[in-house]
Amino acid sequence: MRELKTLFWRNGNLYLLDQRLLPHRERYFRCRSYRDVAWAIKEMVVRGAPAIGVAAAYGMVLACKSSRWSGRSFEAKLRKAAETIKSTRPTAVNLFWAVDRMLKVAEKAISGGEDVYRRLLEEANGILQADIETNRRIGEFGKGLIPDRSTVMTYCNAGGLATAGYGTALGVIRAAYDGGKNISVLVPETRPKLQGARLTAYELKKLGIPYRIITDNMAAMLMSQGYVSCVVVGADRILAKTGHVINKIGTLGLAIAASYYGIPFYVAAPLSSIDFKSSPQEVKIEERDASEVTTIAGRSIAPRGSHAVNLAFDITPPGLVSAVITEHGVYEPVGLMALERYIRGELG
Ligand code: MRU
Repeated sequence: MRELKTLFWRNGNLYLLDQRLLPHRERYFRCRSYRDVAWAIKEMVVRGAPAIGVAAAYGMVLACKSSRWSGRSFEAKLRKAAETIKSTRPTAVNLFWAVDRMLKVAEKAISGGEDVYRRLLEEANGILQADIETNRRIGEFGKGLIPDRSTVMTYCNAGGLATAGYGTALGVIRAAYDGGKNISVLVPETRPKLQGARLTAYELKKLGIPYRIITDNMAAMLMSQGYVSCVVVGADRILAKTGHVINKIGTLGLAIAASYYGIPFYVAAPLSSIDFKSSPQEVKIEERDASEVTTIAGRSIAPRGSHAVNLAFDITPPGLVSAVITEHGVYEPVGLMALERYIRGELG
């Protein structure tokens, strides 16, 4: 089976594989404007921190599409588009990283009298390509951590669908599997949006990697019985100053259980997911609509009028994380400030 692209640019439009419809329907959602992109990110047509970042970068290209825009009002419109795109989902740092990077490129192009649209499109294409290469490097660095003849647990979806391609946590699993290791994957379903059961299972099936889906509440029991060799997850944001990992709600529980049973717990993430400035108190954890909890696949499962809490992410302290796998190597969670030197050269 062919792997589908998570997103691509064609004839002035951005196409997103509509992840709301997977695994049953493979259909692309066309974005003609930055507002379409903002809507698609908010509604999770596209999701996963790196994929959101890439989509946001193309959103900035779309914001610049109209040739009538020029001068100061043009810059003001770009800034407004940037704010709209940034307001969609507050937790994944890649979104802010990508939009700010695109704004810097636009400013340079404007002051240098260059074709801003062309420069922004080049930059977005570059971000997309770099993301795929980054994931492959993460896979290469991480594959040695996965034992042969092992059962690996992942969480949510940190695969090709959550990135421009290949995946972070799933990239590590994939690289180990393609390197000849005998691996099977445990996939917690990941309530409420079921990214594990719908998306990770979809990807593993296409890749031919053996997997079994579990309900989220089975994870600790399986760990206690010795069925889990290690856990590999992605991240929406990692705080370099303290080593805290922000990822899909439920990650913290897995990390606590893994630590209790002495199971290695790895986080795979690119530099664009690392936040070198914030402390845990400064991170906004997204709260989504309660209906995502009181329904499954659009069907109500709770008494009408029930209230629900719907935190989308949690914060795992560094003491529960065995290592962070990046495109620059494998780091201790408290040693990530060493990576700052790699962003200095990026676009000062
Ligand atoms: O709400 P989502 O589906 O965007 O959350 C995704 C995750 O939590 C992923 O683990 C994270 O973004 C890493 S993706 C490589």
